[in-house]
Amino acid sequence: MTAPIIEIRDVSKRYEAGRPALDGVTLEVGAGEALAVLGRSGSGKSTLLNLIAGLDRPSEGAVTVDGRRVDGLSEAASARYRRDRIGMIFQFFNLLDDLTVEGNVLLPAQLAGTARERARARAAELLEQLGIARHARAYPGRLSGGERQRVAVARALMNRPPLLLADEPTGALDSASAANVRELLVELNRDGQTIVLVTHDTALAASCATRTIGLVDGRIARDVRAAAR
Ligand SMILES: Nc1ncnc2c1ncn2[C@@H]1O[C@H](COP(=O)(O)OP(=O)(O)OP(=O)(O)O)[C@@H](O)[C@H]1O
Ligand SMILES: [Mg+2]
Repeated sequence: MTAPIIEIRDVSKRYEAGRPALDGVTLEVGAGEALAVLGRSGSGKSTLLNLIAGLDRPSEGAVTVDGRRVDGLSEAASARYRRDRIGMIFQFFNLLDDLTVEGNVLLPAQLAGTARERARARAAELLEQLGIARHARAYPGRLSGGERQRVAVARALMNRPPLLLADEPTGALDSASAANVRELLVELNRDGQTIVLVTHDTALAASCATRTIGLVDGRIARDVRAAAR
């Protein structure tokens, strides 16, 4: 059996007094899975994603991604880890409005020091693949929500991360754009991309996920594998 790409062992996260945001979570995610994390507001979904991304540290337990402990990295090492290993997409896109679409997509490659010509070729390929090539020179402010989210996906995939994380990727989209992003995520996963996605959108979980976990009060209350997609 191949090693899991994500290995979370006995992880708890406490912010202050009161209920922990995560409470003794153990979870393994294999390469090629599309895991949907469901749960009510406050159940710990974003906290779980942030720990996987190294954006936050657990109070207890270990988080291993791609064979490497990520729960105790320094700030610089953690930023490098995200740059090289993680693509992230968010509900509100988090694009830079004063860069063009192409500029946004190129950014992770520039941070990684990729040669300019190679980076531009990769960006062009991604924009083509995601159906937004004609907007390469436009600024994000002029695009629709669905188009912006596709730019965010292109940026997330720029450095070919083994792991794509998404927090409510359809949360701010109309139903047609949401359907479009759903299809895109399904296709990426079919091509082998490992995805962990947090969502309230049960249609997204149903269509995209190969496995679904439900969080209740910071604990995994259910863990279901899809029969077939
Ligand atoms: N930085 C923080 N400081 C203090 N408490 C926090 C912080 N981040 C999250 N929490 C608390 O941890 C719990 C889990 O929060 P989390 O953001 O993971 O929930 P969520 O499932 O993503 O909710 P939503 O669906 O509303 O996004 C909540 O009670 C929240 O108030
Ligand atoms: Mg959240």
